[in-house]
Amino acid sequence: MIVDISKGYVEERIDWNTDICKEINELKKQKNAVLLAHYYQNPEIQDIADYIGDSLGLARKAKEAKADIIVFAGVHFMAETAKILNPESRVLIPDLNAGCSLADSCPPDEFLKFKEKYPNHLVISYINCTAEIKALSDIICTSSNAEVIVRSVPENQPIIFAPDKNLGKYIMKKTGRNMVLWEGSCQVHEIFSLEKLNSLIEEHPDAEIIAHPECEEHILKKAHFIGSTTALLNYTRKSSHHKFIVLTETGILHQMQKHSPDKVFIPAPPKNHCACNECPYMKLNTLEKIYLTLKYELPELKMDEELRKKAELPILRMLEISGNAGL
Ligand code: 13P
Ligand code: SF4
Repeated sequence: MIVDISKGYVEERIDWNTDICKEINELKKQKNAVLLAHYYQNPEIQDIADYIGDSLGLARKAKEAKADIIVFAGVHFMAETAKILNPESRVLIPDLNAGCSLADSCPPDEFLKFKEKYPNHLVISYINCTAEIKALSDIICTSSNAEVIVRSVPENQPIIFAPDKNLGKYIMKKTGRNMVLWEGSCQVHEIFSLEKLNSLIEEHPDAEIIAHPECEEHILKKAHFIGSTTALLNYTRKSSHHKFIVLTETGILHQMQKHSPDKVFIPAPPKNHCACNECPYMKLNTLEKIYLTLKYELPELKMDEELRKKAELPILRMLEISGNAGL
């Protein structure tokens, strides 16, 4: 049977009385598959996942997974990372259109030319980039361990940091290290309005402001705590505060509320009236697409072995340097 994935995902009418969660769980068992999901996924996907985490946690889980199939409910670069670290498993991605504006902001041919301008520089790339950019990098980092990775490089070694300029600027400030930055950014974390945030702070003077380092500098200046999605979640669990204004993608609020049902979480407002602080790529995944992906084992992420090996090295360096940092 030929399954049409020309749209980037399997399309099939699903009978209205199908219990999709039950079907997913049965298919997972039958096919020895695991479902890994990022915190920005819709709540119903987070609730059925075998593991939910930030980019670092997901990379570690993918590496150690003993499954025949990994279904990745996240975006394309995350599924690529899973394949790079676990080539033995087949990696399925429910919708191939789930890209990332940050990864797209760094095309490999342009990055290669940029890199050639700084021949004696070491390249540290944020994990939110394509396998091709990883292959052009010396060390990968995530928002959980970027500071540890940068600090591990000798003081006299010049660094290029790519592709997120906001995370790069934040790490430069934290470490006092000067780095050459690639001018990339995430469309979701650059949508927050300072004016609206200020009004929200006035309205809720008792709230703590927590932000992801992909946000712009003027927004980060307002934050009481800055960290990766896992760090933000852990912070809200441990904090004695009752109310938080959250500056990252709204998907994380589901876990925050689940772990701290009595606390109040307020998503920070975007500059306009749309739901722009939701990642349009992350939100392409649905339970229906996950079910059909598992049923037909399509679309599958394939990667050229030479590229995989080149991209693996800087990720392994990251895992070695950061050890348990960022847990
Ligand atoms: P982390 O979950 O690693 O903090 O990354 C956030 C993000 O933007 C993922 O695309
Ligand atoms: Fe990319 Fe931003 Fe979406 Fe993360 S939230 S996947 S960085 S576009």
